[in-house]
Amino acid sequence: MRRNALVVVANRLPVDETVAPDGVREWRRSPGGLVSALHPTLHHTQATWVGWTGVTDVAPELPDLAGVRLRAVPLSKLDFEEYYEGFANSTLWPLYHDATEQPVYHRRWWESYQRVNRRFAEAAAEAAPPNATVWIHDYHLQLVPAMLRGLRPDVRIGFFMHIPFPPAELFMQLPRRNDLLYGLLGADLVGFQDQYGARNFTQLASRVLGLPVRHPEIEVNGRVVRVGAFPNSIDMADMEALARRDEVVRRAAQIREDLGNPEKIILGVDRLDYTKGIEQRLKAYRELLSDGRVKVQDTVMVQVAVPSRERVEHYRILRDRVEREVGRINGEFGRVGVAAVHYLINQSFDRTELAALYRAADVMMITPLRDGMNLVAKEYVASRVDVTGALVLSEFAGAATELTDAYLVNPHDLDGLKDTLVRCLEAGTGDISRRMRMMRRHVRAHDVRAWAQSYLAALHDASGLGRLVL
Ligand code: F6P
Repeated sequence: MRRNALVVVANRLPVDETVAPDGVREWRRSPGGLVSALHPTLHHTQATWVGWTGVTDVAPELPDLAGVRLRAVPLSKLDFEEYYEGFANSTLWPLYHDATEQPVYHRRWWESYQRVNRRFAEAAAEAAPPNATVWIHDYHLQLVPAMLRGLRPDVRIGFFMHIPFPPAELFMQLPRRNDLLYGLLGADLVGFQDQYGARNFTQLASRVLGLPVRHPEIEVNGRVVRVGAFPNSIDMADMEALARRDEVVRRAAQIREDLGNPEKIILGVDRLDYTKGIEQRLKAYRELLSDGRVKVQDTVMVQVAVPSRERVEHYRILRDRVEREVGRINGEFGRVGVAAVHYLINQSFDRTELAALYRAADVMMITPLRDGMNLVAKEYVASRVDVTGALVLSEFAGAATELTDAYLVNPHDLDGLKDTLVRCLEAGTGDISRRMRMMRRHVRAHDVRAWAQSYLAALHDASGLGRLVL
């Protein structure tokens, strides 16, 4: 049977540039994120990935990556500042995350966003063979579906939003809200992480654009656009296999020993982002130490913080605040040679080290104020092959709608957060493994392959362009 060609369009290509000690430059598959999510699906198809390399002012010819053609879209320094740091990450990101920080509006950022979206649409139009399926990803590229439809009416167009999609009250702040909605409506299927995002989108189409809506369908210019929820996931089998490796098991034991063999290890792993609730978590921990409900000699917290979008003001301020809080906790509660919080930043964490940390951690704290999904939560669950480990999970992470057996918390409620953490530290092994077993069952049945397949099957139904074979 002839397979349909698939073109993935995302802001980033799934490669990073590395420079060897002898100065040789190489492009390597990047860890985590969308790449790992799509990789299992892509290498079975005739696939092309259209995206940016992460380096400005270059668009190199790139070798194929495990059978996937890579096509680089260039971004200039100005595009990077105005489209990526500006409109995508200082306007849309905070607004879509419940305006956790104040969104910033500048008209020139919008001009750049349009210009760069057009460039991506043109690159996708060139890369797509006749009748291909084009799958566009995330908030950076919301205008691409309609632009691409104008250029290539023969292709099937899917869009998936990886971050939350906000309620009308917030979205309506956007000065160019209609253009963004019409941009997305160029797709045959607009997918979200959960039903809330899908509902918000159909409500906006009706309320702001006045379009006929019968959830989950919207009619626009005589076409029907389907809307749906497709919770993203991880490669469970891959994570489990990694977690079972001898070197990971040995490294986990070594980490425990290096931390002074505490009774309990609490772990946080986050991109350094103000949406992740890192400060709330640290504050709860400090108060527990101060109240004497948690003791440094029994319990250790490890916080891995991955620097992100470092030139954006909100991120710089957050980093200072987090580091001040860590300093304060260690100053008040640490002793010589014994830290209360081990704060790890700017260290390169390969997947093996991360898996060892997951395996060493008795409690994983994931406390975002808002998060589209949070795949770290699912990675933790997958790595607990011995069916132990407690997951504290914010109700405001997409993952909470699926991992209902986690210890769910409202990260704004400091007392609730403290009580839940103590509950986890004191929980019996029976309760902990019962919860973990249920969560593992869920992630196994809903892994990343299931996610991609259910999305692509729905896209096939929605587009009415015939059977999709991948
Ligand atoms: O969906 C959010 C996201 O764009 C992920 O795809 C990505 O891993 C993360 O945010 C960091 O994004 P970036 O470094 O490209 O701004």
